[in-house]
Amino acid sequence: MQIVILKDATEVAQYGANIFIEQIKNKANSVIGLATGSTPVALYQELIKKNQQDEVSFAEVSSFNLDEYLGLKGEHPQSYRHFMTEQLFNHINIVNSNTHVPPGDAVNPVLACNEYEEKIVQAGGIDVQLLGIGRNGHIGFNEPSSGLTSRTRVKTLTQATIDDNARFFAEDEYQPHLSITMGIGTILDSNKVVLLATGEGKADAIKDMVEGPLAAICPASALQLHRDAVIVIDEAAASKL
Ligand code: GLP
Repeated sequence: MQIVILKDATEVAQYGANIFIEQIKNKANSVIGLATGSTPVALYQELIKKNQQDEVSFAEVSSFNLDEYLGLKGEHPQSYRHFMTEQLFNHINIVNSNTHVPPGDAVNPVLACNEYEEKIVQAGGIDVQLLGIGRNGHIGFNEPSSGLTSRTRVKTLTQATIDDNARFFAEDEYQPHLSITMGIGTILDSNKVVLLATGEGKADAIKDMVEGPLAAICPASALQLHRDAVIVIDEAAASKL
C-alpha cells in the first residue's frame, strides 16, 4: 500500500483525479472503476473541468461502478446510476453505453451479478478502480464480514451504513436495505486501486485498513494484499495512523 497524506480534501481530489487523467492519457480506451458517496464528487468535478478544457477525453473510456441499491430503477433519484449521471456522465464526453452500473431493477439479481462480472472480463478488466471507504471499513457495499475473495453479489446493508447514508434520503422516503456490489475479490482484480478518504470520521477506518490485521471485519484491509493500492487521504483521515 502506498499512503499519500495531503493537507485537505481539495488536494486529495486533485491527486486522485490526476491518477485517472494520466491513466486515460496513456490508454485512451481505459476501463475505469467508479464509486459513489460524497468523497468522489470533488474528483469528478476535477475530471469534468479537465474534459471541458480538452485536456482529457473519455470518448473511448468504459466505466464500471462498484455498486447499486437493489430495488431502485436507474431513473430513481436515489439510485447510484442517477448519481453518476448527475455528478459525472452528463458533463463529460463518455459514451452512455460504455458506462456500467449494476442493475438495481434486475428481475434476477443473482444472474445480473454474474453478468456484471462477465462484462468486466469482456472489457478486459479494470485498469484503475476508485474507492471510498465507509466509517465501518466497507468498500463498495462490502460490509464487515464480507468474504475477502467475494465476487459481485447481493449484500444486505448494515444498520450503520443505512444510518450513514440516510442523509441522502428524505425522512419519509423508502431507503433500500439491499444492494448489488462488486465483491472484494472483484475489486482486488483491478490493476490499480485508488482509495480516497477525508475527514476525522474516517480516521478509525483508515487505521484499521492500514495498520490492522487482514480481516473481514474491516473489508478495506483486503487492500493490503493488492500490489498497487494507493491510499490518498487528508491529515484528518490520517490522524490515527
Ligand atoms: C456508500 C458507498 C461506498 C462509499 C461510502 C462512503 O456506502 N457504497 O462506496 O465509499 O458510501 O461514502 P462517503 O464518501 O459519502 O463517506
